Parts: sequence; structure tokens; C-alpha cells
Amino acid sequence: MNAIVSVKDVQKTYDGGFQALKGVNLDIEEGEIIALLGPNGAGKTTLISTICGITTMTAGSITVGGVDIGTGYRKVRRMIGLVPQEIALEPFETVINTVRFSRGLFGCAPNEAYLDRILATLSLADKKHSQIRELSGGMKRRVLIAKALSHEPRVLFLDEPTAGVDVELRKDMWETVAELKRQGVTIILTTHYIEEAEAIADRVGVIRSGEILLVEPTATLMSQMGKKQLIVELAHPTDAIPDALAPYDLALSADGGKLTYTYDIKADRTGITSLLNDLQTAGLQMRDLQTRQSSLEEIFVGLVEEGAA
Ligand SMILES: Nc1ncnc2c1ncn2[C@@H]1O[C@H](COP(=O)(O)OP(=O)(O)O)[C@@H](O)[C@H]1O
Ligand SMILES: [Mg+2]
Repeated sequence: MNAIVSVKDVQKTYDGGFQALKGVNLDIEEGEIIALLGPNGAGKTTLISTICGITTMTAGSITVGGVDIGTGYRKVRRMIGLVPQEIALEPFETVINTVRFSRGLFGCAPNEAYLDRILATLSLADKKHSQIRELSGGMKRRVLIAKALSHEPRVLFLDEPTAGVDVELRKDMWETVAELKRQGVTIILTTHYIEEAEAIADRVGVIRSGEILLVEPTATLMSQMGKKQLIVELAHPTDAIPDALAPYDLALSADGGKLTYTYDIKADRTGITSLLNDLQTAGLQMRDLQTRQSSLEEIFVGLVEEGAA
């Protein structure tokens, strides 16, 4: 594994004593999209602000591209682009000047061809000379990304890129992120939308109360952590679940035609064999069987409940 960002035992205690990060370890691979998924207040913004050097850590160490952020802060900052959660842009400035200015701040020589390419990637080419105030909310968010990419960073951080954005715009953003990955940018994004992590991330890190609970490839997480459902389609609808089947905690569909059994795929015994036997004994005939993988959403809810218990 080729870690472009390496976070080791990072702790952050804010003035006033609140511990927002409790020993975070995280390695981010070059070229991947990783989603830090967690509820509000989990420490997502604190973590990426710490990696970007905006917040100073209380303990631990971080390297970006092999450079320590303590001793090589300026070098690290040039390798990083950060898209903040809040939109903060000059309303009377034009798109291109906003991006040029940002590039200049990093001491990079002008490169109009590169900036044009970014604007094209972000579907902003025809807005190049428009003032920020003339743009829609979705376009402003894309300008923030263009700004963050203006100095050709290797790693892009997106803090809640689609918070409060409608479904349509959210999907546009996902496509933009996928395109940036194709162009070789490593992307770290935070989100509290499970479907967002599921849709675009190669790996998901679940964060809660300042701790990373797990980091897994999205697909692995779904297949290893989840619960599965067995859906039994009955030959003849029933209006009640026989008492003998109570231990299985089955759910009966509104039309009485389907029974759903939820089981843990990691358990030694799924209970499926005995369920099928007991269904027969109870006189229920099956027409068909189906299984369904639960979504990352259900996994995540399970984790949160597990943690709260
Ligand atoms: N500047 C600060 N001073 C004190 N506490 C803070 C500060 N910033 C954030 N916190 C607290 O740290 C926790 C994590 O916040 P944050 O990193 O913003 O979470 P997230 O981005 O996951 O919603 C929250 O409980 C928040 O109230
Ligand atoms: Mg946040």
C-alpha cells in the first residue's frame, strides 16, 4: 500500500478541555476516494482541519507525501487542496480571477491552460468570466473545488460537499468527484449521508465520538458487516404468522404474501434450515425464496446503536 496521507495516534483536545479526536490512525492510499462517515459532532471537520494544518493537534503525527506536517508545513500545504463546508467567496469577483488569485497565494506560476482544464472538468468553462454572485449554489460549490485545485494539489479534501444540497445536485457532485479521481487526484471527503459514501467511496472510515471505528473497502464493509434478509414468498397469503414461528421474529408484508427473515451473515448458524422446516410444519407453502444484502445504511445504524449501548 502506498499511503499518501498517514495519520498516527492523533489526538485533539480543544481549549476548554473537549477531546474531539481520541487517537486516530488512518492511512490514505494514493488515488483512492475515502469517505469519512459519521454523525454531526463526530470529529470529521476536526480531523481534516488537523491534516490540513488549520487546527493543531494535541498529540500524534501526520505525514503527507512522506513530509511531516510539523516540520514541513508549507510543503504539505502545497500538496493539499481543501474545500470547506461553508461557501466563502467574493461575490463581485469573476470565477477565473477567484481561481487565479488562489493559485497565486500558493506561489505557483500562472498556468491558464491548467485552470481552463479545471474549469472544464467542473462544468464551469462557460462561467469563466461570470461574477460569483451570478452563479447558482451548485456552481458556487464547484468554484470552491476549482479554487482548492488551483495550485495542482495531490490530495483534495471535501468537507461535506453535498450537505443541504438537493438530490440532483448531489449526483452532479458525485460525478465531479469521480472525474477528479480519474484525473489522478486522491480524495478525502466527509459526509453524514450513508448513500453518499456508498455511491462514491472506494473505502469508508466510520467515525464517531472522535474515534475511527473501522476503515474498510466499501464492498467489504457491505458484505462482511451487514445483515442479510431472506424473503419467503408464500404460495397462499396468510393473515397471521403462526405462533410456532414467533422465535424467528418474521415480518409479514401488508398483503400477507411475503415473510421476511433477517439474519446475521457472520453467525455460525443462520437459522435458515430450521426456519424452512418450521414453515413446512406450520403448513405454509413457499413459492419462492430470495435473499437481500442490507445496505451500508443499515450497517451504520447498527454501529451507532452498538456504540450507544
Ligand atoms: N473550536 C472548537 N472549540 C471547542 N470545541 C469544538 C471546536 N470545534 C469543534 N468542537 C467540538 O468538537 C466536536 C467535533 O466537531 P467537528 O469536528 O466539527 O464534528 P463534525 O465535523 O463531525 O460534525 C464537536 O463536539 C464540536 O462541538
Ligand atoms: Mg463538520
